[in-house]
Amino acid sequence: MLALSLLAACGSSDGDSGSGGSTSDKITLGFAQVGAESGWRTANTKSIQASAKDAGITLKFSDAQQKQANQISSIRSYIQQKVDVIAFSPVVVSGWDNVLKEAKDANIPVILTDRAVDSKDTTLYKTFLGSDFVKEGTKAGEWLVKDSASASGDVNIAELQGTTGSAPAIDRQKGFKAAIAANPNLKIIASQTGDFTRAGGKQVMEAFLKAHKNINVLFAHNDDMGLGAIEAIEAAGLTPGKDIKIITIDAVHDGMQALSDGKINYIVECNPLLGPQLMDVAKKVVAGESVPARIETEETTFDQAQAKAALPTREY
Ligand code: AHR
Repeated sequence: MLALSLLAACGSSDGDSGSGGSTSDKITLGFAQVGAESGWRTANTKSIQASAKDAGITLKFSDAQQKQANQISSIRSYIQQKVDVIAFSPVVVSGWDNVLKEAKDANIPVILTDRAVDSKDTTLYKTFLGSDFVKEGTKAGEWLVKDSASASGDVNIAELQGTTGSAPAIDRQKGFKAAIAANPNLKIIASQTGDFTRAGGKQVMEAFLKAHKNINVLFAHNDDMGLGAIEAIEAAGLTPGKDIKIITIDAVHDGMQALSDGKINYIVECNPLLGPQLMDVAKKVVAGESVPARIETEETTFDQAQAKAALPTREY
């Protein structure tokens, strides 16, 4: 466990290189990642790994392969290893109280990044750093309301949800539904999870297309599922972006390329580059400084022309 003042007083150093300071002075961060399910997640992982290096923080990293049990056992292992701080992106919102209490009892601060938990006891973690997923869903719905303002009849929407029980799936659906609620001709006729993966998006879209001949719009909770759905739409002889309008969330490079190519119509950005802010917060909580309970990521939206302009300098 880090004891900055004690070690500084003792002049402790074990000759570790890379941080400019002693190994003993280095913060150890245990990070329990959701998995590698999407382009967003890959960019998020790279950002965390690179920022830890830049900040001179020792990173212990685990990939839970989208399973809560794996994330819980990684967090328990970080507690046993007495890391200085734990951060994780909870795969689902519920079921974290016990392990969070174990971390609190061991005096190890926890930072939530990217996704929230539904624990009533907010003293179990120091802060939640990430996007407002309700806002993202709202932006997607608002675009559709504007785009379909001149539609004379029903606009049939298929929805590809993210991982069941995850904060982004719950909140994006909530925001989207609220934004279209005043327009009864905008009808969600099919909604199912594609688990945030390209393969999931493709498979579920194939099933949607078999069951419904009249889909006008696809709302996919992330780019990857939208990209998988595009494959299914094209295989069915339809033109994505025209026969079926597509709205997605993330704005990762492949999504932006499809938007720029006219296969997606609108993307709401979800910024995965959380690493630098996470390292700042980690340093602060380890030093015992207070941090805001909620740190929200700034995000934008892209139409096809904006995607064309942004692509050459897109970081992820
Ligand atoms: O939690 C963020 C979401 O998780 C991203 O939108 C999605 O691509 C990822 O898998």
